[in-house]
Amino acid sequence: MGFCLARRHFEPDYAQSLNRIRAGIPQLPHGGDAFKLMNNRHLGSSSPFVLLAAIGIILGATLVVAQDADRPWMNPRLPPEERAEQVLKQMTLEEKLALVHGNGMAHVPNWQMPLTYLSNGGAGYVEGVKRLGIPPLVISDAAYGVRDSGANGRYATAMPSNLGAASSWDPESACSYGEVIGGELRAQGFNMTLGGGVNLTREPRNGRTFEYAGEDPLLAGTLVGNMMKCEQDQHVIGDIKHYALNDQETGRFMVNSVISKRAMQESDLLAFHIAISIANPGAVMCSYNRINGNFGCENSYTLRDVLKNDWGFKGFVISDWTGTHSTEKASAAGLDQEEPMADYFGPKLKEAVDSGRVSLSEIDDHARRVLYAEFLGGVVDDPPHKSVVDVEKGLEVAQRMEERSIVLLKNNHSLLPIIPSQVHSIAIIGGHADVGMLSGGGSAQVDPPGGNAIMPPGKGETHWQDHIWFPTSPLKALRTKLPNTKIDFDAGTDPKSAANLAKRSDLTIIFAHQWISEDMDLPSLSLPDSQDALIEQVAGANPRTIVVLETGTAVTMPWLDKVAAVVEAWYAGSAGHKALANVLVGDISPTGKLAITFPKSETDLPHPVIPPLPPQDQALSYAVHYEEGPKVGYKWYETQHKQPLFGFGFGLSYTTYAYSDLSVDSNAKTARFAVKNTGKRAGTEIAEVYARLPRGQDESFKRLVGWKRVTLDPGESQTVTVAIDPRALQTFDEATNRWNFAPGDYGVFVGASSDNTPLTASLAVR
Ligand code: BGC
Repeated sequence: MGFCLARRHFEPDYAQSLNRIRAGIPQLPHGGDAFKLMNNRHLGSSSPFVLLAAIGIILGATLVVAQDADRPWMNPRLPPEERAEQVLKQMTLEEKLALVHGNGMAHVPNWQMPLTYLSNGGAGYVEGVKRLGIPPLVISDAAYGVRDSGANGRYATAMPSNLGAASSWDPESACSYGEVIGGELRAQGFNMTLGGGVNLTREPRNGRTFEYAGEDPLLAGTLVGNMMKCEQDQHVIGDIKHYALNDQETGRFMVNSVISKRAMQESDLLAFHIAISIANPGAVMCSYNRINGNFGCENSYTLRDVLKNDWGFKGFVISDWTGTHSTEKASAAGLDQEEPMADYFGPKLKEAVDSGRVSLSEIDDHARRVLYAEFLGGVVDDPPHKSVVDVEKGLEVAQRMEERSIVLLKNNHSLLPIIPSQVHSIAIIGGHADVGMLSGGGSAQVDPPGGNAIMPPGKGETHWQDHIWFPTSPLKALRTKLPNTKIDFDAGTDPKSAANLAKRSDLTIIFAHQWISEDMDLPSLSLPDSQDALIEQVAGANPRTIVVLETGTAVTMPWLDKVAAVVEAWYAGSAGHKALANVLVGDISPTGKLAITFPKSETDLPHPVIPPLPPQDQALSYAVHYEEGPKVGYKWYETQHKQPLFGFGFGLSYTTYAYSDLSVDSNAKTARFAVKNTGKRAGTEIAEVYARLPRGQDESFKRLVGWKRVTLDPGESQTVTVAIDPRALQTFDEATNRWNFAPGDYGVFVGASSDNTPLTASLAVR
């Protein structure tokens, strides 16, 4: 597993490329500037076309340089820092202040401002500086696809949920995910994304769990970092959010997340740091909640001390929508831009500057950061042009991602994959599987083409927090895959009739769902709408029952012993039905592994109950004390000696693997071991490496320190080397504000999941 992927798209000499665009000269083929083209063996160095092209390029470049002589910051060869500094020097105070606040939000009646109409139907709009060539920010939400596209008569691909994507443990697929979203944002006329959620799953009932990448800082940070890196590479300004400890939705606008500095550094902040260091995003969104008493958007510890000073983040901090609570305090703490309005960073900020309460250098710092992000993200040099979305590419990437996201949780007697010659009839039950698959709600919502497949009576359009089903029918996809099998559907509304159909069929597949959304937490992890009872009854009628889960987070499974197989499909995206059918029939062998623990019951969680909200007049007393500290997810279960239903990192395949021969190189900090495919089918195993601090250290639990995806034919064995990531192993010392390696012998554990590590060795740190 590597932290930085090589650039996967054409990016030769950026400056020349841009000059070509401006001069109206066609783009060169991959990897070439004019001189490479002249040497191109296919064309031959004496080709008149080559010479003409080269002359054209040189003339074009000269023209552009001449044109931009009075605007040196328009030179794409200069580093973004320098360009930002140069243009800042030319700006008036008014122009700088325009960069530090939003101008309303489309579709929200209370958030309309004179310039809102310019927002392209998106979440936000920030004025640019036209006279100096600085474009406005045209901002859209885009967690698992571009939001609000349907409302604007446009099309967007829904990728699998971010949590699903994290279950692939595949940074390269995450990169493709980001590329698609970035490309579609541009095609829709946006130049900034609000994706990049990397909050850890401390609280699995959190309604936004599907927007995040699970409970482990290394996995979440790596996956989200790669998504956002590749999204920003499409020339949209990238974003990582919601910084920080915005780990539940209950009371999100005021909840105080109470946690020690060490604990937050080694858990939630670590995920942010890893994501930010990989993606180098233009923006980081501060969160609604308070952290140890101060709001996320006026918290000088998290914003100024950690993000900007310790981590050296050079982009801008953007507030979550109405997450700004003050002018001077927020500005001094490191908030750079208020969204979506100008309540504190509009006239009030101007007045604070005029009266000397906020210094001009502080305003310069805010404006410089916004400018830097624009140059860094490529949106000055290569503004978006509305065009047709590449639907085919989006669907292909969405399908591949879902095929890697699906997690096979149980598969008794190899009931899966379905072998057509052995299965003559299948009962498909519930989950609206005849028409579609579920998606996650809130500001992450992607509009389905043609509207909600399950239109509630009397509704013609979709609204905030409607349960939205994409028109991706797994029933139809399975019928296509299995043309000679009789496949019948029962809606599951009457358990008796569903059980009858199950009894008459060789095999039963029940589709179970759990809808979640921003601005709510789940009351429990049980499946809603009496689905547990339906599953019990159907499995009672036919033990050859497979449950397919469409969920945004973990669910409890009181019926687990009674069903033969369980497949977690998450929110599967625009091509989820095809991916799922491929996995069910075995055209694709499942490879996904859980990025969150599935507990047996809520009583096993660090917080069995989410603290209830106090009366309105005591709202600010609302707090959640994260006493479990860095022991998030699997680390909690290990230290509490609690057996989860399915552990972090768990996932089956249609084949089996054996691990052997672990050796650890303490100097190079690597683990080397062999993985063998011991089954009869080819497959890809995600081999996981964990380490535990030396005895005597207070935080002595297993931490994921690396992994590798290993593709093996039947019988094949491979020796792999995995680098042990120091960031996951070091401890944070509050007194010195430093990260240290505690000396001693670290346990190293290798295997298929956090609770199945057959190989152990030790790593010596002296
Ligand atoms: C959400 C953000 C989102 C913003 C704009 C807020 O309510 O918390 O994640 O980007 O709205 O839609």
